[in-house]
Amino acid sequence: MASLDSHVLKKLVSLSFSALFIMITMVKSESQCQNFQSIISFGDSIADTGNLLGLSDRNNLSLNGFPPYGETFFHHPTGRSSDGRLIIDFIAEFLGLPYVTPYFGSKNGNFQKGVNFAVGSATALEVSFLEERGYHCPHNISLGVQVKIFKESLPNLCGLPSDCKNMIGNALILMGEIGGNDYNGPFFQRRPVDEVKELVPLVISTISSAITELISMGGRTFLVPGEFPIGCSVAYLTLYQTSNMEEYDSFGCLKWLNKFGEYHDEQLQAELKRLRNLNPHVNIIYADYYNALLRLNQEPTKYGFIDKPLSACCGVGEPYNFNFSTCCGSFGVDSCNDPSKYVAWDGIHMTEAAYKLMADGLLKGPYASPPFNWTCLSSKIKNKNSLDTQSCLMNS
Ligand SMILES: *[C@@H]1O[C@H](CO)[C@@H](O)[C@H](O)[C@H]1NC(C)=O
Ligand SMILES: *[C@@H]1O[C@H](CO)[C@@H](O)[C@H](O)[C@H]1NC(C)=O
Ligand SMILES: *[C@@H]1O[C@H](CO)[C@@H](O)[C@H](O)[C@H]1NC(C)=O
Ligand SMILES: *[C@@H]1O[C@H](CO)[C@@H](O)[C@H](O)[C@H]1NC(C)=O
Repeated sequence: MASLDSHVLKKLVSLSFSALFIMITMVKSESQCQNFQSIISFGDSIADTGNLLGLSDRNNLSLNGFPPYGETFFHHPTGRSSDGRLIIDFIAEFLGLPYVTPYFGSKNGNFQKGVNFAVGSATALEVSFLEERGYHCPHNISLGVQVKIFKESLPNLCGLPSDCKNMIGNALILMGEIGGNDYNGPFFQRRPVDEVKELVPLVISTISSAITELISMGGRTFLVPGEFPIGCSVAYLTLYQTSNMEEYDSFGCLKWLNKFGEYHDEQLQAELKRLRNLNPHVNIIYADYYNALLRLNQEPTKYGFIDKPLSACCGVGEPYNFNFSTCCGSFGVDSCNDPSKYVAWDGIHMTEAAYKLMADGLLKGPYASPPFNWTCLSSKIKNKNSLDTQSCLMNS
C-alpha cells in the first residue's frame, strides 16, 4: 500500500512538474504579450521601492538607506526594506516590466511602465486620526493621500484623461500590503488586542474606498494583499516573549497574534467579495500573503531555509537576533553570512529569498484568489495569424 502510494505520488509529482514547466513556458510567452502594460502600486514598506528613502532628510536617511540593506541583489541600498528584491519586483520581472519607479524617490523618473506610491511606514488610516489616538506617523502619506497624489499627478504621468483611463485600465494595480503599520503602532505600544481590533473595519473600509475610487478612474485589475502572520514576526516575538508556552504554536509562533492577522484577512476577503459583486467587470484578486509566508515559517527546510526561521538575518540580540533599539541598518549591525537561508531579514521585513517564494506562490501557485489567468498568448496563437504572434514577441 505504502509503496503503491509512493509510486503514484512520484508519478503525480513528475506530472505536475511537467505541467509546471508548460505553465512557466506559457507564462514566459504571456509576459511578452504584456497583458498588463504597467504596475501602479500603493502601500507601505512591503512594496516600497525607494519612496521612504526619497522622502527622508538627507542628514537623517531612513535605515533602509544603509548597508546591509540591498546587499544581495542591487549590491547597494535602494530604499527597499530587504536584502534584495521585493514581491513587487518579482511581479514586475514576471510581467516583463521594469522595476516599478518610486514616485517620491525619483521626481524625474520614467513612469511609463509603472509608478509606485508605496511608502515605508505608511498607514491605511489618516495620520490625523492615528495621532489623535497617540500613534506617531513620520510622514503624512496614508493610503488616501497616496491615491490623492496619484490623481493629482495624472496629467504628468499620462496626459489626457482618456489616455489616463487607458493606462489605469491596462495596469495591474497593487493595493497593499497596507494596514500593517496601523496595527504595529498600537501593538508596539502594547495596547490591548481588543483595542487594535477596533481598527480593523476602519482599515478595511479605507482599502475598499481606495479600490472604489480607482475603479471610478478606470481600474480593472487589482491585486489586494492581506496581512502577514505577525505571530511569527521576529519583532512581535521579541516584544511579546513569554514563559507561558501555551501562547505558542508548535512552530514557535504566537497564536493570538496570528489569529489577529487571520481576523483582518477574513474581513478583507469579505469586503473584496462585496466589491466583486458591485463591480462584476473588475478583476479583484486577493493575495494571501499570510499563508504564502506561514508555510516558510512552518517548513523552512522544505524551502531551502535553515531550521531556525524565527530569527532575523540582520540584527542583534537573543533569542531572535532582534532589538528594537539597535535595528538593521544601524552602525555595527551585521547581517548573516547567507541571507538566502533566512526567512526573516530585519525582524519586520522578509529576505529576498522569502519574497521570491511568496511572489511565485501568488503568480503561479495557490495564493492568489481568484488565480491569475496566463492563457493570453496561447489564445492569441489559436485565434490570430503567425504575423501577429511574431510582432507580439518582437514587442517584448
Ligand atoms: C530622524 O528620522 C527619524 C525617523 O523619521 C526620526 O524619528 C528622528 O527623530 C529623526 N532624527 C533627527 C535628528 O531628526
Ligand atoms: C495630510 O495630507 C492631506 C492631503 O494633502 C491633507 O488633506 C491633510 O490635512 C494632511 N494631514 C496632516 C495631519 O497634515
Ligand atoms: C536591547 O538593547 C538595549 C541597549 O543595548 C539593551 O539595554 C536591552 O536590554 C536590549 N533588549 C533586548 C530585548 O535584548
Ligand atoms: C482564461 O482566459 C481565457 C482567455 O481569455 C479564457 O478563455 C479562459 O476561460 C480563462 N480561464 C479561466 C480558468 O478563467
